[in-house]
Amino acid sequence: MTQVLLPAAIDNYAETYTTAESEALAQLNRETHLKIELPVMLSGKLQGTLLQMISCMIKPRCVLEIGTYTGYSAICLAKGLAQGGHLHTIDINEELQDMCFRYFCKAGLENNITQHIGKAAEIIPNINEQFDLVFIDADKQNYHLYYDMVFDKVPVGGFILADNVLYNGEVVWPDAEQSKNAKAMHAYNEKIKADKRVEHILLPVRDGLMLVRKIEN
Ligand SMILES: C[S@@+](CC[C@H](N)C(=O)[O-])C[C@H]1O[C@@H](n2cnc3c(N)ncnc32)[C@H](O)[C@@H]1O
Repeated sequence: MTQVLLPAAIDNYAETYTTAESEALAQLNRETHLKIELPVMLSGKLQGTLLQMISCMIKPRCVLEIGTYTGYSAICLAKGLAQGGHLHTIDINEELQDMCFRYFCKAGLENNITQHIGKAAEIIPNINEQFDLVFIDADKQNYHLYYDMVFDKVPVGGFILADNVLYNGEVVWPDAEQSKNAKAMHAYNEKIKADKRVEHILLPVRDGLMLVRKIEN
């Protein structure tokens, strides 16, 4: 499960020299840690700020997020939307829907974000949009499937970002010692490396982010 791969002192130092969370994100971070199972899933300040920066650089008209959880990364990504832009976010867990909406309102982004509840593989084909940016952060076994499902919905020049691609560092362990999810992440990284239609960089931030830019159809 998601860990910080950097030594704690370096991670704290990086957070210290990163812009403070907005009030809405700080409250959401706190409430998630106090009340919700598996708060380690939340992107957090360092990764969240990076997501926001990436989105601000791209200024996407439309974003797809796969894996909402409590809405932290959705808010970060939505902050970079072009004027009138929209973010679609999908999660299988309906229990967190109201909490997410409460924080989307606190962040002033409720009109820019649509929540979809259900299995991502069933919902993606029904969102009839082109996505300038896709963030994959859900069940690890299906990353390869989500990549294939969104590829034609991303224009040339668009981006596909995936979280947890280092899977707590397990991707470099001997094959026999890797968990099923680490193997899935390694397979995803290999798939990206072999795909000549994209440029890519694996950023060793938090649990590893694979940033892909589509260069041909
Ligand atoms: C790591 S969390 C997302 C964290 C969030 N993006 C953030 O950074 O704050 C993964 C989420 O994926 C959701 N999920 C798992 N399997 C899914 C599926 N098949 N379809 C849609 N969502 C799924 C889980 O319910 C969970 O909320």
